[in-house]
Amino acid sequence: VSGGVKCLRMCVKGPVIGEFVSRLMPLLQNCLQPDKDPEMRMSIFTMLAKLLLDAANTLDSQGLFRNESEKFLCDVLLPNLVWQAGRTAAAVRTAALSCLLALLHGGSITPGQVHTPFLRGPQVLSALTEDSQMGRLMACRSLSCILRLIGTSLDPEALNKIYPELLKRLDDSSEEVRSVALQALGLWLSSLTEDYSPQVYAPHLQFLFRELIVYLDDPNSSVQDQVLEILRKGSSIDPALLKTEVEAVRDRHRCSLYCDQLLQHISPTSAETPADSSK
Ligand SMILES: *[C@@H]1O[C@H](CO)[C@@H](O)[C@H](O)[C@H]1NC(C)=O
Ligand SMILES: *[C@@H]1O[C@H](CO)[C@@H](O)[C@H](O)[C@H]1NC(C)=O
Repeated sequence: VSGGVKCLRMCVKGPVIGEFVSRLMPLLQNCLQPDKDPEMRMSIFTMLAKLLLDAANTLDSQGLFRNESEKFLCDVLLPNLVWQAGRTAAAVRTAALSCLLALLHGGSITPGQVHTPFLRGPQVLSALTEDSQMGRLMACRSLSCILRLIGTSLDPEALNKIYPELLKRLDDSSEEVRSVALQALGLWLSSLTEDYSPQVYAPHLQFLFRELIVYLDDPNSSVQDQVLEILRKGSSIDPALLKTEVEAVRDRHRCSLYCDQLLQHISPTSAETPADSSK
């Protein structure tokens, strides 16, 4: 095994690694079992993350890795995201998350290969609550990638498990995490298809709209702008519901400008004040 790791290390720089994927995969699967040495796992994940970001010129240079990527996700990455106590374990999870993000970004995994592993376990959603800011950030980014890849093919039940976890990240201590979580919520709204009936799922939409509207009054104006944009786009899902929710809190906001802009977007004419319409 240690010879294999050395070999992996030596081959990191070239496309040659793509030629021995079939021998590499069992090796990785073995070395990266969650009961194996954490230092070793961490350094392999860090190495793999670099390779996966440029998969077409490294691991997947021969088109062989893409055939293994679902297995890699299921059998190697996700088990390493399961929470365990301790700093070292947390550092390994962060390294595994960087690898997950690289896999999703690097183009060597297809939507079909992401679908089943994502639905099988709660690991990606749980990672949103990592103690480390870097971990939460990479989990949010990974979830964004996943929504981009398979959002519209997720059923309403799966979708409804996702947005509450993202909403919790809007109060994150990191502005960057908040911003990426907002982006992911925008992608979540874009993932809704006609399967997601606004009548059937009205309580979910109401909760989501209510929570998002709070951040129209955020102290950070770039958060306000981002939320306004998301709600503008999302308004088409149920304009009447969103309008009711905005009107209910408009007067309680420090500044009603953003509420007014949103109301104006939802119904351009009825949002006019009587003074305006008399002109
Ligand atoms: C893809 O992987 C499967 C096993 O997972 C194997 O049977 C098949 O030969 C592989 N195909 C290619 C093109 O490597
Ligand atoms: C506001 O949020 C953005 C990201 O949305 C962040 O880059 C910026 O630092 C934040 N500003 C303050 C003052 O926290």
